[in-house]
Amino acid sequence: MADKELDKIQIVAKDDITGRSDSYGSLRGNNADLQNPDRVTCGSVYGNTFPKDPEFEQIVQEGEKAIMVGFSPVLSSKGTSGCYFIQDRTSKTIGVFKPKDEEPYGQLNPKWTKWMHKLCCPCCFGRSCLVPNQGYLSEAGASLVDEKLQLHIVPKTKVVKLSSETFNYTAIDRSKSQIKKNIMNKMPSVGKKFHRLGLPAKTGSFQLFVEGYKDADYWLRKFDHEDLPISTATRLQHLFERLVVLDYIIRNTDRGNDNWLIKYDPVSSRGNSEDCEWSLVDNPDISIAAIDNGLAFPYKHPDEWRALLHIKNPYHWAWLPQAKVPFSQEIKDLVLPQLSDMNFVQDLCDDLYELFKTDKGFDKVTFERQMSVMRGQILNLTQAIKDSKSPVQLVQMPVVTVERNKTGLSRRRTDSETFTQSFAHRAPFFSWC
Ligand SMILES: Nc1ncnc2c1ncn2[C@@H]1O[C@H](COP(=O)(O)OP(=O)(O)OP(=O)(O)O)[C@@H](O)[C@H]1O
Ligand SMILES: [Mg+2]
Repeated sequence: MADKELDKIQIVAKDDITGRSDSYGSLRGNNADLQNPDRVTCGSVYGNTFPKDPEFEQIVQEGEKAIMVGFSPVLSSKGTSGCYFIQDRTSKTIGVFKPKDEEPYGQLNPKWTKWMHKLCCPCCFGRSCLVPNQGYLSEAGASLVDEKLQLHIVPKTKVVKLSSETFNYTAIDRSKSQIKKNIMNKMPSVGKKFHRLGLPAKTGSFQLFVEGYKDADYWLRKFDHEDLPISTATRLQHLFERLVVLDYIIRNTDRGNDNWLIKYDPVSSRGNSEDCEWSLVDNPDISIAAIDNGLAFPYKHPDEWRALLHIKNPYHWAWLPQAKVPFSQEIKDLVLPQLSDMNFVQDLCDDLYELFKTDKGFDKVTFERQMSVMRGQILNLTQAIKDSKSPVQLVQMPVVTVERNKTGLSRRRTDSETFTQSFAHRAPFFSWC
């Protein structure tokens, strides 16, 4: 969306609550708005409305209100880009916001030293098979795939707009906002004419925060030494297969064991022992969350040499013992009917089109290439699951692209649609991707 449009969307509430949060939350607890924060605004000042998903909408709007009354987003210390924890008005973290312009290749990435490192050493970091600066779409796209396939492992993620003093802005943006605020204070009649008083809203991905989870790495190391109860281990295997399905379809290039989380409580019991004694034999539950999906949906297959040299193997899970087990009946029943249906696959492409086209840098040809890679991945995955292969065998299959043959690149679907399948020729041993 064009910057100009962003300007129009952001209308600040009349009593300029945004201005009060300039003190980085110093008003927290003694601000009159905290007693009645709903008067700050009804709905969203940035147009964050999701009529089909009121629960998500309510959480995002709660985050907006919390920022307005001083609960500033907190910048994550990890990673190479702007990743902010959004709180509600009780200081509880409710979401993870990643603004587009603070991504690794965004203009306002706050972690510029790490960014420079990437720039100066592209052979180690570069992923030029990805569309640059569209990580937020990849995050939301992964959530879309997760939802369509009912995998339930990606915390819901959508594109939203937020603004906060904590985000990284140019000095010009900050001083413009300050000047307008001063004018508003001294000459309210003039100030009222401004379209916007606060800092510009940033577009980015908003992912729901999941509680009680730890990096998968932490638990996997523990599971090396202690055996899980059989039903828990089976559940973990099924969830792991869902992660494989997701990553393979979206062609995730960044699934280290720090980019998925596990929740496991060894002493938990699902029932109340006083009511029903048999509940004591219930085994502890386990869940996983696939986070950090911003480096997926490449428009060409990453070079094989990187994978061969283990420099940038995108599927770190391929080394786990779970990856040697053939795909289960559970995953077959869950995903095979959809994935083998060309209409379902095209619906998925259409939904991703609706999402990706909102970016101002959207390019139809590049998008079609992204979908060709995705269709090829789905073709391989479907075959591997049908043949009861294991995830390790899946990642060893030759990569395929499935191009849509069209006259022009119209999105309208026709019965006579044809597709061309091509096996990627071996990549040169050394290239810059
Ligand atoms: N949805 C979530 N729920 C709970 N914790 C999360 C969630 N998303 C991220 N986190 C926590 O925040 C940390 C950083 O998040 P994430 O991996 O998404 O960003 P990053 O590594 O900073 O980004 P990048 O790798 O793109 O530079 C994670 O390791 C995890 O501990
Ligand atoms: Mg990460």
